[in-house]
Amino acid sequence: MRVVRFQEFGGPEVLAVTRAPAPRPGPGQVAIDVAYAGVNFADIKARSEGYRVPSLPFVPGLEVSGWIRAVGDGVTGLEAGQAVAALTPGGAYAEAVVVDAATVFALPDGLDLRTAATLPTVLPTAHALLHEAGRLRVGETVLVQGAAGGVGTVVGQLARAAGAGRVYGVVSREAKAEYALRHGYDEVFVGEFADGVRAATGGRGVDLALDPVGGETFRRSLEALAPFGRLVSYGNASAAEPWRLGQPELFPGAVSVAGFSILTLAATAPDALREIAARAFRAVAEGVVHLPVTAEFPLAEAAEAHRLVETRATTGKLLLRVAG
Ligand SMILES: NC(=O)c1ccc[n+]([C@@H]2O[C@H](COP(=O)([O-])OP(=O)(O)OC[C@H]3O[C@@H](n4cnc5c(N)ncnc54)[C@H](OP(=O)(O)O)[C@@H]3O)[C@@H](O)[C@H]2O)c1
Repeated sequence: MRVVRFQEFGGPEVLAVTRAPAPRPGPGQVAIDVAYAGVNFADIKARSEGYRVPSLPFVPGLEVSGWIRAVGDGVTGLEAGQAVAALTPGGAYAEAVVVDAATVFALPDGLDLRTAATLPTVLPTAHALLHEAGRLRVGETVLVQGAAGGVGTVVGQLARAAGAGRVYGVVSREAKAEYALRHGYDEVFVGEFADGVRAATGGRGVDLALDPVGGETFRRSLEALAPFGRLVSYGNASAAEPWRLGQPELFPGAVSVAGFSILTLAATAPDALREIAARAFRAVAEGVVHLPVTAEFPLAEAAEAHRLVETRATTGKLLLRVAG
């Protein structure tokens, strides 16, 4: 089968199409013939700096849709030929992938494979950020960095559907602001956001801030919290030093900081992930949330998809078309 992999860290050019034997499922695993693979920012981090890469060569890719080709011993409730979506710890840029059965999801009625490939990372992440880690309550205000990206597009809509008060987004350019305003956001700041948040909230700050950027953006998000506000850290797009804080930062506003990683949750609490995923997928099947596919590439052109994400010009979700 064809796979896209890298043997060294670097720019998009290190991604190469090669051939590998089709993987067989071990006990508790499922082999999937891939229809579509989603492109995530974490794939770019894996390729450029080795984020969650255990060894080289490495096939990136965290999510697929497709058809089950074989199930391993002990797997129940899934069968060959079934259409599914799955979260994987890597390996999705390939014609077939082996996944733990715990992170394979049957498709809700009416969901097509193309849409399904956009869901496994973004939807449960967005849901968990707002509800499980962020503990959003009706009427509360929310501030979201990267509001026009994959996670950002879904968070805005889910927050609004959950009865948030006002939902504020932050993006890096004007065109993205227009897109975010069409996906659940009430107001979007371009670049600098501290003064905007202060003005928009009458100086109070926001109840919940979501930060995938880290560094200075993390610090300013913390400062933008209202009393008893919560900040959820879920990424480090800025590649800044990991944040550290303690009582001096938390006591004055009685604020909390939480963290979230879907891959860690998948490894440590797969049942919790399945519950969150089921709720989040339902939101898509019921039309509460829409995640537009804004660019689609053949598997062999994965490097082009990475180049596009790195220009910071993309909105919504990018996909690799693997079958057909
Ligand atoms: N912890 C988890 O479980 C989890 C799961 C999924 C995603 N994530 C994180 O959530 C974020 C969004 O993921 P995604 O896959 O949906 O990607 P994405 O949002 O479609 O694309 C990357 C985003 O990062 C923003 N960004 C900020 N600083 C950047 C920089 N220095 N270089 C490039 N982009 C930068 C860009 O928005 P602007 O240009 O508008 O700033 C862009 O929206 C990523 O940071 C990712 O690592 C975390």
